[in-house]
Amino acid sequence: MNALFRRKPISEIRDEHVDPQTEVEHGLRRSLGVWQLTALGIGAIIGAGIFSGAGTAVSGGPNHPGAGPGLVVSYVLVAIACGFAALCYAEFASLIPQAGSAYTYAYATLGELIAWIIGWDLIIEYAVGNIAVAVSWSAYFTTLLSGFGIHMPSWLATDPRTAFQGFTAVHAATPSTDPTMIEAAHAWTTAPHILGFPVIINLPAVLIVALITWILVIGIRESAWANTVMVILKLAILFFFIAMGSFWVKPANWHPFMPNGWNGVFAGAALIFFAYIGFDAVSTAAEEAKDPQRDMPKAMILSLIATSIIYIVVTLVMTGLVPWNSHGSADPLAAAFTERGYNWAAGIISFGAVIAMASVLLVFQMGQPRIFFSMARDGLLPPFAAKLHPKYRTPHVTTILTGAFVAFFAAFANINEVIELTNIGTLFAFVLVAVGVMALRLREPERHRPFRTPAVWFVAPAAILSCGFLMYQLPLITWKRFVIWLVVGLVFYFLYGYWKSNLRDRPAAGS
Ligand code: ALA
Repeated sequence: MNALFRRKPISEIRDEHVDPQTEVEHGLRRSLGVWQLTALGIGAIIGAGIFSGAGTAVSGGPNHPGAGPGLVVSYVLVAIACGFAALCYAEFASLIPQAGSAYTYAYATLGELIAWIIGWDLIIEYAVGNIAVAVSWSAYFTTLLSGFGIHMPSWLATDPRTAFQGFTAVHAATPSTDPTMIEAAHAWTTAPHILGFPVIINLPAVLIVALITWILVIGIRESAWANTVMVILKLAILFFFIAMGSFWVKPANWHPFMPNGWNGVFAGAALIFFAYIGFDAVSTAAEEAKDPQRDMPKAMILSLIATSIIYIVVTLVMTGLVPWNSHGSADPLAAAFTERGYNWAAGIISFGAVIAMASVLLVFQMGQPRIFFSMARDGLLPPFAAKLHPKYRTPHVTTILTGAFVAFFAAFANINEVIELTNIGTLFAFVLVAVGVMALRLREPERHRPFRTPAVWFVAPAAILSCGFLMYQLPLITWKRFVIWLVVGLVFYFLYGYWKSNLRDRPAAGS
């Protein structure tokens, strides 16, 4: 029983990180400073959440009321919840600057079983989250292509479920006239068949994931460079949206501000939480940071503050452009311009969305293998997952495996379900990190912490409560999927990690 709560001593974790044997000969390459880390954070944060998700959150969907312009309030509330979580993450990131992020923190504080659960859970945040971003990227990319007169066959740019939904909606007693549904139905009816099954896959989503995987295998420095360029571009395009949009705003569109009251605002908050996911991804680059203890907390908090401000202003402008109930499309920022007749400006925004989402994909595809890498190094996953490429010194095996997983599901997945699953998994990780910070304060109060969570006995419980509240807002089916995922993870653990852990046959730390 004790074995389930064996903890990896922090001193040992840090030795591993400074050991010249591992760092110089085999370790990950240290090349990232505070600005590159902040850019990684912004790279991971601004993406599908604002470019796609914000629309449904404003106007509402079949299962949730719209927040209206009150989505601005949702963004503020979620920023506060993430701020609490970020302050907890920052203490750990400075104390345990390792690639495994929350997984490693939990291993040091809450024991192996919880660490495994969190590591497994992070797959939802990183790999599953990326499935959603890849699908959303594909939607914007195909729209952009059609702007240049290149039309992808629709059965090559959607998932079978959406296509079938479209088909049923268009052939219902009162046929749908929604252009998205008509397009989806078209995919269903025109798809070629193999062995009687329609072939419907999201090819652009698969291709972008393959491209990103290749960049990541080549090396961290090149990847950080590519990320910085994409971040500058996407910020420029959002500033363009704000600058142009504020001329065209009609204040009348801000009334009513909260058409569905707080219900709409909270439902919106649970959805757009996705937009904030990513500041924590900075922590997975800890072993590639030049001075992680000083720079990681700064980078996380800076990237969160910067994106919160941008989101709030963008949402204010977006909801000022068109009435709150006409934002339902998958490309709300571009659509707001189109609706006002500024097609050229909408084209620029679509281009920005494609870049923005590519950089999110890059950072998350980079984070996931580093978590696997840490888990394999601890013996909880097979040793091949901890191999570094002899020339590029990147965790190429796990990078390629992650790429294959994401690409496979991106070919067939339905975006809304994937976003909700990502949100619940990430919120759960945030809760566990907040618990871990308090556990370590109690267990090792004297340990030097380069960054200390301010007012930890207020901030950590506030993180738990606010993230817990957002989890509570998510539908029951999402909870069921999440529990199934965790159970599958536990089966894996008891079949493999429990027996192979490096800490096996050693007394549990602290016991
Ligand atoms: N925050 C990231 C996005 O919105 C996951 O795409």
